[in-house]
Amino acid sequence: MFDFYPLNETRESSSLKAKRFINNGLVKVSSFADINKNQIVTETRNELEKAFQKKRFPRQIDLHQIRNQDIQELVLNLFSSKEVKNLFKELSQKSGSEVTLFPFIDVMRNYFSGPQCGFPGWHNDAGGELPYYFCREKMRTGKYLFGKLSISFQPNGIYGGNIDIAKATYKKYEKKSLRQMISNISIKTFFKIYKRSPSFRLLGKDQWVSDYLSIITNPKTVSPDPLDVIAFEHRLYHRGTPASPNGWKELKKRIPTLSIENFKIPGDINLDEKNKYIIYAHFGNIFGLQSYIYDRSRRDLWKQEKKRWLEQYKFLELFKSEFQNSSVFFQKVLEIKGIELNNNFRD
Ligand SMILES: [Fe+2]
Repeated sequence: MFDFYPLNETRESSSLKAKRFINNGLVKVSSFADINKNQIVTETRNELEKAFQKKRFPRQIDLHQIRNQDIQELVLNLFSSKEVKNLFKELSQKSGSEVTLFPFIDVMRNYFSGPQCGFPGWHNDAGGELPYYFCREKMRTGKYLFGKLSISFQPNGIYGGNIDIAKATYKKYEKKSLRQMISNISIKTFFKIYKRSPSFRLLGKDQWVSDYLSIITNPKTVSPDPLDVIAFEHRLYHRGTPASPNGWKELKKRIPTLSIENFKIPGDINLDEKNKYIIYAHFGNIFGLQSYIYDRSRRDLWKQEKKRWLEQYKFLELFKSEFQNSSVFFQKVLEIKGIELNNNFRD
């Protein structure tokens, strides 16, 4: 675990929040000030676990597939709050193009990086867009705006629970920072040689050896409170916080066969109160959306993804009544010639 990232206060102005998002790639949008917060978190965690159990523990579930009224209402309220809408308004003004919410909205369960199992996990969500001139051009002109909103159901700590960000690497345009590239190469080389990272205590820090190779990126651990809404930019270099060596040792004592396979704790393993749940949504303006779709539609699963987008537009109240322009933007982008490669979708 790294030092905590100093998150902003929720009560500060939307204009300041928008500036933080644009300059740092991360901002806390809202916090949840209900006196029954702990109870709501516990109950939602229980209901989420039931939903995952019903579907035999997939990696993620799309929100519209969760048939629980309380969860639906909670997410609807959190993602359409006045703080979120005001931030979008500010970002629309600053980017010169309307910012809105986009699919997928989904829940991920026990999705972790794991240097101890060969998964260092650092990436840019926009990594798939960067190889394309079309996408880089959107970023280069400064019109691009795209990112994720997240809601977590646990704090971050020695068992993981949220994300680590490489604070010194964030770039607003299409170039990757030199620090990111150096750190990335050294981490890749390390795992090529050693496969897995051992732990190493230095200056009292509970740290994986490979994590010292990211020090030049000034990595920080982000730990919002449960039910806070966080916004992070698609180009921000980050990873799901792994369990620390001490945290992992404790978990292993309880479940000796515990491992991380492909960034995930095997579905049938239940960490109970230490299960990690995060709900994500996309947001951005039409230029960000163009870049995102350009990349996604060139991937194998686009047909299914597109179907999921349309389903969310059809079934989620968030899109039906709160962010009605979202589906209009999606259709508009699909109509731009050359954006969607696999446009032969018919059901
Ligand atoms: Fe990510």
